Amino acid sequence: MEIKLNLNSKEATSSELVVLGSFATTEKKGKKEVKAASLTNWPKEVKDYFSGLKSASSFNGDKGAQFFFDFEGTRYLAFGLGEKKALGNEDARKTFANVVKAIKDSHTSASFQLDTMMAKGGLENTASILTEALELTTYFFDKYLSNKKQAKLKKVNFDSKEKKTAAKKIQNAIDEAQKITESVNVARNFVNEPPNILNSESYAKEVLKDVKGIKGVKAKVLGKADLKKHKMGMFLSVNAGSAYEPQLVHLTYTPSKVTKNTKHIAFVGKGLTFDTGGYSLKPGGSMVNMKFDMAGSATVYGAFRAAALLGLPVKVSCFLGMTDNAVNSLATMPDSIVTAMNGKTVEILNTDAEGRLVMGDVLTYASNHKPDVIIDSATLTGACLVALGTEVCGLMGNDDKLKNSLKKAAGNVDEYIWELPIMQEWRDDMKSNIADLKNIGSNRFAGTPKAAAFLENFVGEGIAWAHLDIAGCGDSQAHLPYCPPKGASGVMVRTLVEFMRSQK
Ligand code: BES
Ligand code: MN
Ligand code: ZN
Repeated sequence: MEIKLNLNSKEATSSELVVLGSFATTEKKGKKEVKAASLTNWPKEVKDYFSGLKSASSFNGDKGAQFFFDFEGTRYLAFGLGEKKALGNEDARKTFANVVKAIKDSHTSASFQLDTMMAKGGLENTASILTEALELTTYFFDKYLSNKKQAKLKKVNFDSKEKKTAAKKIQNAIDEAQKITESVNVARNFVNEPPNILNSESYAKEVLKDVKGIKGVKAKVLGKADLKKHKMGMFLSVNAGSAYEPQLVHLTYTPSKVTKNTKHIAFVGKGLTFDTGGYSLKPGGSMVNMKFDMAGSATVYGAFRAAALLGLPVKVSCFLGMTDNAVNSLATMPDSIVTAMNGKTVEILNTDAEGRLVMGDVLTYASNHKPDVIIDSATLTGACLVALGTEVCGLMGNDDKLKNSLKKAAGNVDEYIWELPIMQEWRDDMKSNIADLKNIGSNRFAGTPKAAAFLENFVGEGIAWAHLDIAGCGDSQAHLPYCPPKGASGVMVRTLVEFMRSQK
């Protein structure tokens, strides 16, 4: 599907469908209040025709209302946005997404007239939200379908004959939204890829391929020998039963201008291409979908990629810890004691608590690069779904300012994030009698922040650190019309990009 965004009605369109928005207004007719569609900025002839159309009389601009009609050889779709003052960004995003859903499989091209559907923040913001809705809603993982019946978005074109600054600003808003949402979709693609195709080695290769050519980016990959050299005993213990090499992908983005005030942000991502549980094997039902256990790494990679494409004025490092958690005769057995890169010893009581082992060593490695902040993202605990549901991202960390900036960023882009505390009692619970730490708590309570209490041991002195547990929100968000009903959500990429934008 090809999409055009038009600035106003004067601009000719050659699309199969013209999409016009309308708010709902209440008019006083005598003593009665009557709801009506505003039809603001509609082309005059179309407005006159539509107003006289009997079958359209029930269309009053209510949020979600849709009405197709034909006029002078052109097909139109009128859709409602509800009351103007009640329309927030997320309402607009969802309404636009539902419009896209209604037309994507039945039309090959459509033209949206922007000034009829103005969300808060004017044309630029509207263009940006609409682009997000278009890019995110037309995503579909059809790589392995013989019959690719879903309509993909070919392009969002901005059509404006008015080459004024306003048009330039709108074009810019569209370009930026496209860079971000394309990166969300790249993250979704990685997560949806099955484990027989995406293993640590192929994943690392694909990331390097994807990032190649982006300005300011450097990449390197550490393999098994490097991990041994760095004494990453925890990471290696998870990889012990694998047929593939562990891979630590290390990406850096350096902006074109660097001063001593340039912030250095480090991302760390859990890249478990499959989690069987290891010897503490998952039951069959819980193992299905564990291809998604690398969603944390895909999320931070997506954010990193977007930052580089946008040329944000921050330095960003990205560390992705990749392996599967498999079983063979060499796989780590429960009761094993391993030594982490930072020298701490860990008693492994459950090989299914593997994410924290990989993340711990990668956090040490990231800390050694002396960033100002570290944000990690991981599908770390099933307990996060119990605590916060499948919709909300868990947030933990050691620095209020960082946590508050992340909460604010999530709010700005309408993603759900909620903080859980790390109590001293839970730190104590992660201590072992025969090693410095153990990898699980002594009961099943507070599983999510106890995992964070474990990770905290591997964050370098004085570094502000935040941990995102995306075990719930990383997967399908069926309540969001711009997320596929099944598979990777891509949620939190936009939050992390917004966070980086706020760090100057
Ligand atoms: N990858 C899982 C966490 C997970 C579970 C994410 C379900 C999404 C859905 C993680 O490696 C894991 O297995 N965690 C264990 C920890 C436990 C053994 C302390 C869990 O949550 O059961
Ligand atoms: Mn596990
Ligand atoms: Zn896992």
